[in-house]
Amino acid sequence: MTANETSILVPDAKGLGLAAKIWGNGGLVAFPTETVYGLGADARNDMAVAAIYAAKGRPSFNPLIVHVADVAMVETYCDMTDVAHQLAAAFWPGALTLVLPLRVDAGISGLVTAGLATLAVRVPDHPIAQNLLAEFGGPVAAPSANPSGRISPTSAAHVIAGLSGRIDAIVDGGTCGVGVESTIVDCSGAMPLVLRAGGISTEALEACLGATLATPSDPATPSAPGQLLSHYAPQGSVRLNARHFDPHETGLGFGAVDAPFNLSPTGDVVEAAANLFAMLHKLDAMGATHIAVSPVPDHGLGRAINDRLKRAAAPRD
Ligand code: TXA
Ligand code: MG
Repeated sequence: MTANETSILVPDAKGLGLAAKIWGNGGLVAFPTETVYGLGADARNDMAVAAIYAAKGRPSFNPLIVHVADVAMVETYCDMTDVAHQLAAAFWPGALTLVLPLRVDAGISGLVTAGLATLAVRVPDHPIAQNLLAEFGGPVAAPSANPSGRISPTSAAHVIAGLSGRIDAIVDGGTCGVGVESTIVDCSGAMPLVLRAGGISTEALEACLGATLATPSDPATPSAPGQLLSHYAPQGSVRLNARHFDPHETGLGFGAVDAPFNLSPTGDVVEAAANLFAMLHKLDAMGATHIAVSPVPDHGLGRAINDRLKRAAAPRD
């Protein structure tokens, strides 16, 4: 199915029924999750998954996260390790993606895993996503619903601005509560490894497991294959750790600073995560050419925020 007009669906029984039917026919539907909007397709359908890459203009070496309604369904596609069971019990449904050994008979498209022997899976904690995945009853591959390299969408309006005319439908579910993507933990090896900081803090994961987790330190050598250095980029340039804002700059503040936009005037990293992408979208919409961002503390969700800001500020090709 190739889209040229994108329908906006209301998240009632009729709208969700229609969305599930579009997935069943190999189409693309964007839907809200608690982290960001996802661009979903049937993960078993090669043509449908290829259409995701085409709509986003995404490099095809980048594997996708599969979304399912519950843990029982995860176990039909993956082997759950002990650590995975522990993390799933504590954080699913929620903003956590687990990388697990893929079962050979899983039937997941090789385009989803980019040929890897592992699968990234998540049970999202958003009532609309939950109902939609239950209605569809199958695995849904869904990257964030933005053109490749651009800012992730936290509202249906962001999705429309980036992908209208390129996808079949959007389920409008308002604003995403968490605002940054899920944390990715690789549970396929001997030791769990945090591949991407995200909506569940490393501190919370470590408290659950009673152990310190390893994190890949160099963003230039990503171990989540999709962690490209330049990403989440607004149109304007981005300067980080700004203690002051120059006259030609538009300030994106954090804490008690005077700036036209402020991620969290009270210095709350959770609030800042929820505001991050929406404010970057607003800076784009107003045509800001030089964006300067206050320092954000590197703990809790601050780690995910700093990861995204570093990529937004990275040199672009
Ligand atoms: O919150 C989220 O995770 C959102 C919502 C829609 O669920 N999704 C999302 O997907 O951020 P995406 O495609 O933008 O990011 C997927 C990340 C990439 O960095 C990719 O490299 C990594 O997951 N990934 C996928 N499969 C993997 C695997 N088998 N091993 C390691 N990393 C994997
Ligand atoms: Mg993304």
